[in-house]
Amino acid sequence: MTDENGAVAVLAAHGITVQFNVPATTGAPARTVVAVEGLDLSVGRGETLAIVGESGSGKSATALALTGLLPPNAVVTRGEVGLMGERITNLPESAMRRIWGNRVGLIFQDPMSALNPVLTIGEQIQEAILAHRPMSRAAARAQAEALLAQVKLPDPAHRLDDYPHQLSGGMRQRVMIAIAISNHPDVLIADEPTTALDATVQMEILSLLKDIQAKSGMAIVLITHDLGVVARWADRVVVMYGGRKMEEGATASLLLNPSHPYTRALIAARPSRRPATGRRHRLSEIATTGFAPLSPASRTEPVS
Ligand SMILES: Nc1ncnc2c1ncn2[C@@H]1O[C@H](COP(=O)(O)OP(=O)(O)OP(=O)(O)O)[C@@H](O)[C@H]1O
Ligand SMILES: [Mg+2]
Repeated sequence: MTDENGAVAVLAAHGITVQFNVPATTGAPARTVVAVEGLDLSVGRGETLAIVGESGSGKSATALALTGLLPPNAVVTRGEVGLMGERITNLPESAMRRIWGNRVGLIFQDPMSALNPVLTIGEQIQEAILAHRPMSRAAARAQAEALLAQVKLPDPAHRLDDYPHQLSGGMRQRVMIAIAISNHPDVLIADEPTTALDATVQMEILSLLKDIQAKSGMAIVLITHDLGVVARWADRVVVMYGGRKMEEGATASLLLNPSHPYTRALIAARPSRRPATGRRHRLSEIATTGFAPLSPASRTEPVS
């Protein structure tokens, strides 16, 4: 599980195929959906790898496969995932529990759905710390406060006792980052972490992640629809379409000199300026540019 320079990748996928098993409903037979097919990628220490692609291209399924968080109806049918050279594909949940929130941190688009509405944010950060490092409640609370300061949440000592609904969307995402980094993970997977936030807050959150990365050397896998975010924050890019990798390269060279027609269409579809409404451009809109798919979008196959 080494990269082309012989260094061990922090996190790597080797030819993974991810399949969802969709049960039969009235009128529709059971079927399988191949969400990701034969995907290779890797991210190194201190590196930010972006995964881009239109809606349904398999970005989230990749993130879930990389972290062992696929739902019960999904499975990695081929290939393997390695964390610091150790195979973690399809490990039992008991083994993954030692990895989640410890060596792999995760943040998602919607922090509200990831936070527990009936626990204070202090309690939730303390839980994350105590799940992996036994210490007194008082010590965990002090660490939770330090983490909130690190993610630049104003007035951390008082915010510890707030419930998620008392915070803005940007503040909640800061809390999610505090939880994700609470045990100094080797890699952080961020699935559209700023899509729901306005442009200013998005910049603040992404620069916060970069600060943390500069200090800790953690690897980041950043999933996004936004090529502006990619251009500014990612070292390398993987372009996905229909569950497959279309192209990969260093950010500047890939954006300046895309070799794949899909990547060219993606770049051409990006407006030069964000619309005044503040509405984000979605890559799914490239459908309107007349790009003809080169490979089938996630295939669905009847169960034999
Ligand atoms: N729970 C599920 N059951 C069945 N199929 C699923 C499930 N989740 C995802 N899929 C399918 O897997 C494929 C990839 O979906 P995925 O969520 O990874 O796309 P995505 O690139 O993250 O899209 P988006 O940009 O909208 O988040 C799609 O065809 C989708 O319909
Ligand atoms: Mg997704």
